[in-house]
Amino acid sequence: VVVVLDFGGQYNQLIARRIRELNVFSELLPYDVKAAELRGKRLKGIIFSGGPKSVFAEGAPDVDPEIFTLGVPILGICYGMQLIAKTFAAQVARGAVREYGRADLAVQPSASPLFREQPISQPVWMSHSDVVTSVPDDFTLDALTASGTIAAMSSAQRQVYAVQYHPEVHHSTYGMDLLKNFVFAICGCQGDWTMQNLIDESVAALRAQVGEKRVLVALSGGVDSSVAAALVHRAIGSQLTAVFVDHGLLRKGESDAVMENLGGQLGIDVHRVDASSRFLGKLAGVTEPEKKRKIIGEEFIRVFEAESERLGPFEFLVQGTLYTDIVESGTKTAATIKSHHNVGGLPEDVNFSIIEPLKALFKDEVRRLGEELGLPSELVWRQPFPGPGLAIRVIGEVTEDKLQIVRESDYILRDEIAKAELTREIWQYFTVLTSNQTVGVMGDERTYAHTLAIRAVVSQEGMTADFARVPYDVLARISTRVVNEVDGINRVVYDITSKPPATIEWE
Ligand code: XMP
Repeated sequence: VVVVLDFGGQYNQLIARRIRELNVFSELLPYDVKAAELRGKRLKGIIFSGGPKSVFAEGAPDVDPEIFTLGVPILGICYGMQLIAKTFAAQVARGAVREYGRADLAVQPSASPLFREQPISQPVWMSHSDVVTSVPDDFTLDALTASGTIAAMSSAQRQVYAVQYHPEVHHSTYGMDLLKNFVFAICGCQGDWTMQNLIDESVAALRAQVGEKRVLVALSGGVDSSVAAALVHRAIGSQLTAVFVDHGLLRKGESDAVMENLGGQLGIDVHRVDASSRFLGKLAGVTEPEKKRKIIGEEFIRVFEAESERLGPFEFLVQGTLYTDIVESGTKTAATIKSHHNVGGLPEDVNFSIIEPLKALFKDEVRRLGEELGLPSELVWRQPFPGPGLAIRVIGEVTEDKLQIVRESDYILRDEIAKAELTREIWQYFTVLTSNQTVGVMGDERTYAHTLAIRAVVSQEGMTADFARVPYDVLARISTRVVNEVDGINRVVYDITSKPPATIEWE
């Protein structure tokens, strides 16, 4: 394993994911993990990630000093490089200029094997304000940027390597080559890890954790909870019971599809609970997005508790939380963007131990895992759907009438996107009922009705996204059908914002 120590950068899990793309197992651990804990693993290397703090800040995150005595190579990235510089008594200073975005790297002739078979001049992606201003005594300078910033350094003798830029992002053109050199040439990894290993390891870990106890899984109908359920089912079979809470915030036809796929095809013991009136009751009068999310998250847990009492007892609850849900809900070191329902919405006093078997993975990795587990492809390739469901696609107060508008318009959108054969190209597409009302004219009559927004984005893992360039004639068909077929809508708009600065969902 190559362990990535997390200092709080938004892209840290990407580092681990890139390493896994090289067929080497990698996981992200808190920066203050004890060296003794790492000794137990089949450790091949350690990466110190980037982070938002300055190494000078009061209480700046630092590693257990024993980490440097583990005898495996270390690679510091951004904050990680500054921490290495500080540890080995070199100078770090507030940069006169903040470097943000593209920079040109000049690799030195004496550079370490990290830069093997790479061009001496290459574009890299920088994001920092502090800089290392002197190389520690027994280190060599490996690369500078065009503005003279020390961008890479290493000590072969100490097996410590550091880069100021971010090799894990696509904009660093040779970043993957650098990680490859670190993992294979320097750490000596084999590159024989696969999705099947991940399944085997997870199955073994789940069996050890659960023993003979019974487990409840929360099915939402989405890819994540389905794959989590299938994985746990693979591990413990009939010790698993699935509860599918139909919170009344699902898309048209979705509830029946879940029963058919997971209950029917996979043979999981699925109990459907119709909790729609309960959720709508709690949401009545609530308009604030974070409040809606918190209410739905809490209500989910309450329904599970009630079901577990009826069907149980159960010791564990499985959730399909992904890495992106965790990082955007704020970790110990990263900032909160919005509370994804199965993380931030979780009340303190739950009666279950939570199992989150996918929490280190990105969406596309979960899809590969799902395929490897033999899930039907229409399920695995289903577009992402948020836990709070259509409630966060009705802006402001949620009512059954408004949900009906979103359900019907979403159904039309899905139909037209499928007819245009765009389903795989577009990461996610849905309709949002805005709280805006405008004047229209239909059949010579004045109308005063709601504006519906279409959101369609392309993305790799949901962390960043761009609006999809859906052809105008497809948009035109959707617009015409929505206004004609859905009561209460007289205007359709298309959202042309990327993420950032917007998010994918509107709430
Ligand atoms: P945002 O809106 O944060 O969405 O840019 C990123 C991705 O996450 C989905 N999403 C959620 N998924 N629980 C989930 O399981 C949630 O509370 C939640 N909120 C957003 C969203 O649909 C998109 O794919």
